[in-house]
Amino acid sequence: MTRILGIETSCDETAAAVIEKSGEKTEILSNVVLSQIADHAAFGGVVPEIAARAHVEALDGVIKAALDEAGLSLQDIDGIAATGGPGLIGGLIVGLTTAKAIAAASGKPLIPVNHLEGHALTARLTDGIDFPYLLLLVSGGHTQIVYVEGVGRYQRWASTIDDALGEAFDKTAKLLGLPYPGGPSVEKAAAGGDAKRFAFPRPLKGEARPDFSFSGLKTAVRREATVLAPLIEKDIADICASFQQAVTETLTDRVARSLARFRETHPGLNTPTLVVAGGVAANQAIRAALDTLCGNAGFRLIAPPLRLCGDNAAMIAWAGLERLEAGLEEEDTLGFAPRPRW
Ligand code: KG4
Ligand code: ZN
Repeated sequence: MTRILGIETSCDETAAAVIEKSGEKTEILSNVVLSQIADHAAFGGVVPEIAARAHVEALDGVIKAALDEAGLSLQDIDGIAATGGPGLIGGLIVGLTTAKAIAAASGKPLIPVNHLEGHALTARLTDGIDFPYLLLLVSGGHTQIVYVEGVGRYQRWASTIDDALGEAFDKTAKLLGLPYPGGPSVEKAAAGGDAKRFAFPRPLKGEARPDFSFSGLKTAVRREATVLAPLIEKDIADICASFQQAVTETLTDRVARSLARFRETHPGLNTPTLVVAGGVAANQAIRAALDTLCGNAGFRLIAPPLRLCGDNAAMIAWAGLERLEAGLEEEDTLGFAPRPRW
């Protein structure tokens, strides 16, 4: 039996979790996520200094809560997995320093985990899927398609050339005076809006390269909002609906490129898998569009449950466990330095 404590502090969630693997059975014993949304809301986005301070204040308590909920103490843990990057340097230092202290004091291995690897491997924890598969990661900081070949074996097939998709939602919300985080606000406002009223651009749509672009959309929204100002509720709903429609169309067009590439390079795989992860995966319109896209392309779409889709520490613990089992942990990880741009 192997039990791993996971720690995640790369952005604005302070998180700790314990997972246990016994034979082929894996269980999430605890998954504590303390969101800092309220701390950053007044600023319309994550403020790095506030985030770092909040991690310092919360992390010990969050780790204790995760151990308590699992009914375990540090002696029962076989390894400590902590996000080593990419992310905000202050939070990474807090999480790694704490993890190193626990590892040094307990004599258990420290496993630095790449945050993206956590997202990439989550679907193996939730759905037990096999390699290889494609991952679409859409969050506040990332928009990319990763070819997942095995533990520690990843290839980026596409990424955004400007804003991340979640960032586009957040900036659009801010422009329209909607509350942070912007994604849920825009989705809610869009529900009552006319998606045909504004012809926002579909950046890169139809292009052969597989990448994403969203900054032009935000600019178009700003232009429209300026022309219409002061905005009434109907304007905001129509802008949100039109924005979401444009995003969905351009996203599925871009993703289709990578699905085609996967098909061409894996002719023997009957029903390949696309995993979608990251906070934006909560968006129902986007999910529905990806569902249709995958159905038409003969792919299976897997979307891990929301609490494992956004940032959390269970995914870090799981990635740490997979790395440990694959024999990938580096020697002398206590000297590992945070990698904000890993
Ligand atoms: O993965 P996540 O929780 O954190 C990181 O960015 O790492 O993703 C947060 C992002 C934010 O930009 C938020 O606005 C977006 O996901 N988001 C959404 C929705 N819920 C969260 N975007 C669109 N529609 C949603 N329902
Ligand atoms: Zn993330």
